[in-house]
Amino acid sequence: MTQQAAIEKACAHVAAAKPLVNPRYYPGFHVAPPCGWMNDPNGFCYALGRYHVFYQFHPYSAVWGPMHWGHAVSDDLLHWEDLPVALAPSEDYDRDGCFSGSAIEYEGELFLIYTGHTYLKKFGDDELIREVQCLAVSHDGGISFEKLGVVIEPPEGVMHFRDPKIWKAGDKFRVAVGGRTVDTDQGIVVLYESDDLRRWTKLGLIDKAEGGLFMYECPDFFTLDDEGTGEKLHVLLTSPMGLKPDGRRFNNPSVNSYKLMRPKAGGKCLYETVQDQVEADRGLDFYAAQTCPDKNGRRVMISWLNMWHVPYPSVPDGWNSALTLPRYLSLKDGVISQEPVDLSPLYLNTAEYESIQAENEEKIISAGKSCLALSFKVKSSAAQAGLRISGSIYLYFDRINGTLTLQRLEGGRSGARSLPVKDGETEIRVILDRCLLEVFYAGQSMTAMFFDPGLKRELALYAANGRAEFSAVTLHELKAPRLEARQGQGAWHPAH
Ligand code: FRU
Repeated sequence: MTQQAAIEKACAHVAAAKPLVNPRYYPGFHVAPPCGWMNDPNGFCYALGRYHVFYQFHPYSAVWGPMHWGHAVSDDLLHWEDLPVALAPSEDYDRDGCFSGSAIEYEGELFLIYTGHTYLKKFGDDELIREVQCLAVSHDGGISFEKLGVVIEPPEGVMHFRDPKIWKAGDKFRVAVGGRTVDTDQGIVVLYESDDLRRWTKLGLIDKAEGGLFMYECPDFFTLDDEGTGEKLHVLLTSPMGLKPDGRRFNNPSVNSYKLMRPKAGGKCLYETVQDQVEADRGLDFYAAQTCPDKNGRRVMISWLNMWHVPYPSVPDGWNSALTLPRYLSLKDGVISQEPVDLSPLYLNTAEYESIQAENEEKIISAGKSCLALSFKVKSSAAQAGLRISGSIYLYFDRINGTLTLQRLEGGRSGARSLPVKDGETEIRVILDRCLLEVFYAGQSMTAMFFDPGLKRELALYAANGRAEFSAVTLHELKAPRLEARQGQGAWHPAH
């Protein structure tokens, strides 16, 4: 099938399947697939006058399958509009999937660079695969794409070789590609350079991992100015496979993390590590993050809000996964801070409380509202003090362990992650969008999905085994533009 026929087939399926999706948990303002399965964000960029985000997309079911690229655009990183499927498997070199990649504007056109994936034994068998980097271009302002073929073949001794991330360096283009060495089973990130996007020269390795890290998925490579030291550092953001849990760190089945690096002369890599792997998020569902400069050149990151191999209840509803809110990044004294995009255009009603006291009890502050932004501070002598969201989520300061803990209590989906903290005087921000939760504390984030039956959304501030004061409590009810747009397009039919 030609790419055009494959795209038309996929778009026709989306149009037919979208009204059949059960919207009970569907996000109100985050990017999520119109139907079917989503994973990594791809091609996140500001190009041709608007923001684009593409994503790994399997329109035909809510489980992973031959990868297409879904596509959404925005003027403000907050209101997103769905566009037609951008890429579909169609050629020999990408017949089993158009895997992850990135996008860039060049000479007034939008280009995509992505991995063409083929299984050489049988579909789904990772033992023998071929992965090549491919180019596509849009001649209609970034809506439909013409495939231009393979532009980078795997280096010798590398079979897993994917997820090219492109950027402009002076008057050249550069691409970082993740890989795995066949002989020593080490994760590598390979750097290439080009003048015209078509012919690429290998410059060398950005990194070669040690200690069991056997594959770097979804590399991103960019600079941030350290506001503390004044040094410009390189950030290697990846989804590393094989990183071992270490105390409270790296405890998810799949981890997303960054290293700080600087250029180095000589040696096997072009860069040296200044600060080794730091988790990019300390919640339960976060992988494959990708960044771009916003229209003013500020670095912004978006990520897959989900986790491999966790069976979420949206799957039988006909969709799976979402992307996080875009988050601005800054660097201070070797630590990256995240701040979500401004949500104020979505504010509906606001409630403010100067002080809420609780002693071995909880105080309900909201019920039945499923899109909310809440912020508060805590002063506590209790063993636990924080926020309960229905029966699913407990987000609390744990005085005994000195942590901020996010706990999800949902049977087989249960889990907890913690951040070390000094006190509760720093503001906690909690953003809820139906089944999506993003928490920001002192520049760090904790992200998770949660499935509160019936969306009862009872929010309570509580103190257990002691007393706590919650101050500067602000609760905004938020609009749900994406959910509203869906509801105008036909109702879910329970027979499906
Ligand atoms: C990461 C990943 C990528 C790959 C894509 C396939 O989540 O495994 O390495 O390109 O997903 O969907």
